[in-house]
Amino acid sequence: MDSSATTMVDPQSIPIDQIDVSDPKLYQEDAHWPLFERLRREDPVHYCADSAYGAYWSVTRYEDIVAVDSNHKIFSAHHAVMLDDGRHSGQTEDATVMLPFLAMDPPEHDKQRKIVTPAMSPANIAKLEATIRRRVQEVLDMLPIGAEFDWVPTVSIELTAQMLATLVNYPLKDRHQLVRWSDVSVGIPGDGVIDSWEQRDQELKLFAQTFLALREERRAAPPTSDLISLLAHSPEAQDMSIQDYISNVILLIVGGNDTTRNSMSGSILALHDHPEEWAKLNANPALIESMVPEIIRFQTPLIYMGRRATQDVELGGKLIRKGDKVAMWYISGNRDSEAIEHADRFIIDRPRPRQHLSFGFGIHRCVGNRLAEMQLRILWEEILKKGWKRIEVTGPVRRAYSNNIRGIVSLPVRIHA
Ligand code: HEM
Repeated sequence: MDSSATTMVDPQSIPIDQIDVSDPKLYQEDAHWPLFERLRREDPVHYCADSAYGAYWSVTRYEDIVAVDSNHKIFSAHHAVMLDDGRHSGQTEDATVMLPFLAMDPPEHDKQRKIVTPAMSPANIAKLEATIRRRVQEVLDMLPIGAEFDWVPTVSIELTAQMLATLVNYPLKDRHQLVRWSDVSVGIPGDGVIDSWEQRDQELKLFAQTFLALREERRAAPPTSDLISLLAHSPEAQDMSIQDYISNVILLIVGGNDTTRNSMSGSILALHDHPEEWAKLNANPALIESMVPEIIRFQTPLIYMGRRATQDVELGGKLIRKGDKVAMWYISGNRDSEAIEHADRFIIDRPRPRQHLSFGFGIHRCVGNRLAEMQLRILWEEILKKGWKRIEVTGPVRRAYSNNIRGIVSLPVRIHA
C-alpha cells in the first residue's frame, strides 16, 4: 500500500496570512507539505499573528534557516527553543526549562555543553559499538518472518531504550522507564502520553529523585564512561544546580530517544516507499554510509527549533522586531529544492548526503549526531546481513500529535525472507 499522506490541505484555499504551521494536527496527518511548499515560494519569512502559542515568524528556506541558526547573538535560544513558552497552553512552567543548554546562550551554554561533550566523543561512542551491535542482533533475531507486526515498539523503541540505558548505565530491565520519562517530558496534554501538566510534573519528580540518587552512587564509585558518572565526577559539573543537572540528563535522554527512534522507523517507511532505493542498497551495502544521513534528512526528526530576536533585524525583506519569536522549520528547509537537488525524493547515494538541517547549525548543533548515525548504521548493517527480500509496510502509518517531534507512533510491517 501507499503509505503517503492521508489528509491533504489545499494550500491555495487559505489566505497566506492565515497559514499557521504550528498546529500539531498537521504533522499527525502528514498534511504540512503543501503549506511549506507555498510558504517557501511566496512568503519564505512568514508572520503568523495568531496561533495557540501567540504570534511567531516562520523561516522556511534552507539558506535563511542556516543564517538564523548560525547567528546566536541576534537569534537567542534563551527559553525560546519552543514556540510554547507556557503562557498560552496553561502549562505549569516554561517548557524550555526542561531543556537546559539547548535553551541557553553563551557563556552558560558553552560551559554546560562542554561537560557532556566527552560522553559523545568518537572514542567514547566507539566503546558502545559492540554492545549496541549485539543488542541489535538480538532484537532482529526475535522478529517474526512472514507475519505482520508493529515495527515501532518491537524494534525502534526497543533499540533506542537499550541505547539510552547503555548511555546512562541504567538497569537494562528498567529501560522502558527511561522512554516513558522522555515521552512525558515532551508530552502535551491530550497527546495520548499525558493528560495534564500536573501529571507530567508528578512523573518527572520521580525521574529527578531517581537520577539524583544515581549521581550519588556514581560519585562513590570510580569514574566510568557513562554519562551520569561523567556528570558526577567532572570538576566543571560540581557547581551545577540540581535543576540544571536534572534538565541536562533529560535533554540527553530526550535528544537520544525520539529522534533516533523515529529515524529508525522513518528508514523502513522511506525504503518501502522507494523500492528502487532498496534494490540499490541490496546490490551495494556500502551505500549504508550515505543512506544514514539521507534517512535523517528525509525524516527530519525535529520539525523546528525556536529562537527569539534580541534586536530588530531584517530577514528576507521582513522586519523582525526585538522580542519576536522565530521558528526555524527544519522540515521545510530540508525539502528546499533550491538548496538540495530533488529534495522531495529519498536518494541513498547523494553526493553530499550530510548537506541537511536535521542536526541544526552553529553553537547548538546536535552533540549526539555521531551516536545517532552509528545506531542507524549498525541497524542497517545487521538488517542487510539477514538477506531479507524486503520489509513491507502493511498498514496505515500512525503519526505523533506534535509540532516539534516528527514521530511515527505505529508502523505495521511484514518481513519477506
Ligand atoms: C537523528 C537523531 C538526532 C537528531 C535529528 C537531532 C537533532 C538535534 C537538533 C535539531 C538540535 C538543535 C540544533 C540547533 O538548535 O541548532 C539538537 C541538539 C542536541 N541534541 Fe540532538 N538529535 C539527534 C540525536 C541526538 C542524540 C542521540 C543525543 C544524545 C544522546 C542528542 C543530544 C542533543 C543535545 C544534548 C543537544 C543540545 C546541543 C546544544 O544546545 O548545544 N541528540 N539535536
